[in-house]
Amino acid sequence: MIAIHCLNGPNLNLLGQREPGIYGAATLAEIERTLHAQAGRLDIALTFRQTNHEGDLVTWVQEAGAVGAGVLINAAAYTHTSIALRDAIAGAGVTAVEIHLSNVHAREDFRHVSRIAPVCAGVISGFGAHSYVVGLDALAHLLRGRLPSAS
Ligand code: DQA
Repeated sequence: MIAIHCLNGPNLNLLGQREPGIYGAATLAEIERTLHAQAGRLDIALTFRQTNHEGDLVTWVQEAGAVGAGVLINAAAYTHTSIALRDAIAGAGVTAVEIHLSNVHAREDFRHVSRIAPVCAGVISGFGAHSYVVGLDALAHLLRGRLPSAS
């Protein structure tokens, strides 16, 4: 069975009440339940985590690498700023897929830059909570060797 760690960054614990016009009405707990159901259908061992701290994301990426898990990551604002997270993904040798609820390219200029996209296999952005499901599916295909990986 393949393993995927879904890692969530700052302020995503506020989903449901945080700018619902941009991020939707679903809470992170609801997204987690939906993703666990999809993981069950796809025979994936899923770990789901959220933190408001950059260093936790770095540590969790390293942990995923150590156990051979793929990484599905919504790094939230750290997407646009964190060289440490980029280095963690590259250094841990994980296959990672970057996801966002909103379409970051249709928003402010500072959201058009991703520090982690160059070391991820691909990016899913703009499908609301469904970005998680699409990202999980895409990452599972990569891990099963059905598509070429960027790394
Ligand atoms: C986000 C987009 C980021 O720009 C933002 O900082 C977030 C959420 C998204 O899922 O759309 O916190 O990652």
